[in-house]
Amino acid sequence: MMIVRASAPAKVILFGEHAVVYGQAAIAVAINKRARVEIKTVPENNDLSIDNAEILLEARDLNLKAKINTRDGNITVLGNHPHHDKIVEATARLLELIKEHHGGEWPEPHVMTITSDIPRGAGLGSSAAVSVASTAALAAAAGIQLSKDEISRLAYEAEKIHHGTPSGIDNTISTHGGAVHFKRPDVTPFSIPSFPLIIGDTRKERETKAIVLGVRERKEKIPHVYNPLLDVFGNVVNEAYQVLKTTPLDLETLGHLFNINQGLLSAIGVSSLELEQLIWAARNAGALGAKLTGAGAGGSMIALIREDQISTVSQAIREAGGMPLSVTIDTKGVMVEQQ
Ligand code: PMV
Repeated sequence: MMIVRASAPAKVILFGEHAVVYGQAAIAVAINKRARVEIKTVPENNDLSIDNAEILLEARDLNLKAKINTRDGNITVLGNHPHHDKIVEATARLLELIKEHHGGEWPEPHVMTITSDIPRGAGLGSSAAVSVASTAALAAAAGIQLSKDEISRLAYEAEKIHHGTPSGIDNTISTHGGAVHFKRPDVTPFSIPSFPLIIGDTRKERETKAIVLGVRERKEKIPHVYNPLLDVFGNVVNEAYQVLKTTPLDLETLGHLFNINQGLLSAIGVSSLELEQLIWAARNAGALGAKLTGAGAGGSMIALIREDQISTVSQAIREAGGMPLSVTIDTKGVMVEQQ
């Protein structure tokens, strides 16, 4: 029996969200929460009714079960899963692309299982982590060696199914790990030392597209105010980039830059009461800096802390109504293991 396991990390945007849409730089880091994909062969005449050249795709947490025929890409949704989940469609697309560009055959029946410890819909890049881990696992199971850049490129195609026109930052950071400096069209991975962060999930779901559109409308109405603000976002990112590349890491300055970045995000109207409550709870508990991360208006915030502040700041976020998640920087990116 062949077993392949691949995993890929989640991400947070440290600096520059929203302004990045208008050509300013942004910085994202991978965090130590992972999506995992296992693919194994099962015998012919198995009791799961998986035929040759079929993959049974399962994600139990999502109540997702479907069969994909690797010859024609045909999808059969199984069980009582009410929606044809995008993960199934993205997996079928990945299979198609891998075959088209790299070949590979799937003569035996396979089971592909997706699990994840990344909260969904919280701006942490959960779908990109699944796409990256799936790409790596599918390629390895088909006996194909892919470079990290190829994995990221293919995963980007799966991300389009999830998000329409994604910027590409999520699949890049999830593939390479560490940190990326992103300034359209350039994505530059760079290495940074690991440091602790606390994420506070407001548990308020939001739609990135609508928030980005809101910023655009306000910017068009008052460009003389928005445009210089966007330039300051860029200055904050440039400063942060220098700090992040310098050892020992100046956490105090980084924390200060977090707070300035949050002020700018609030100025362009993407913060919310829920986010501010968690941000101030973290700051009052001693965090070096705190800001929303991702699109805002809900979703998550991040707090920069020292190692000994993990439990105090987590507790403060919990008491303010958020769900705290203690994380560190992931430096490995996508990982594959074959047996
Ligand atoms: O909500 P997220 O983590 O997908 O981040 C959105 C980041 C934005 O800058 C607001 C939009 C974008 O496409 O970069």
